[in-house]
Amino acid sequence: MCCSFFPKVAVLVLTLLIVQMNGAVSEDSHALLAFKSTITHDPQAIMRSWNDSLPFCLWSGVTCGRRHQRVTSLDLPNMGLVATLSPYLGNLSFLMYISLENNHIHGSIPPEIGNLFRLRVLSLL
Ligand SMILES: *[C@@H]1O[C@H](CO)[C@@H](O)[C@H](O)[C@H]1NC(C)=O
Ligand SMILES: *[C@@H]1O[C@H](CO)[C@@H](O)[C@H](O)[C@H]1NC(C)=O
Repeated sequence: MCCSFFPKVAVLVLTLLIVQMNGAVSEDSHALLAFKSTITHDPQAIMRSWNDSLPFCLWSGVTCGRRHQRVTSLDLPNMGLVATLSPYLGNLSFLMYISLENNHIHGSIPPEIGNLFRLRVLSLL
């Protein structure tokens, strides 16, 4: 027999891990696009970079962790954006920092934001 049992298990575990990470990564881009879709005014066209021609980790104001393509920071102060906080932001489970001060963020803070257990800064004013 060519292969022992253990490498097969290792390959399976690795595959599952990669599938799981890719799922989480696409969830991050989905959440960012959900936030983008709430924006009704963007005087500096800052959200133009939030498109499929760039990986979302390179979108303006977005920072990802070094070891994984997960969003750790959303940093868009002073942009004149008119937006609401999408409940989908609660899916960005690696998010530590949200800085949106000096924009016009209206509506309430969705309870899903409370799922962000790594969040240290939520600056809206
Ligand atoms: C997508 O983003 C890139 C990088 O900022 C920009 O050069 C390009 O014009 C954008 N595409 C669209 C369709 O807005
Ligand atoms: C993300 O968040 C929304 C709203 O809280 C939720 O309905 C959705 O199931 C979550 N997951 C994905 C993969 O978008």
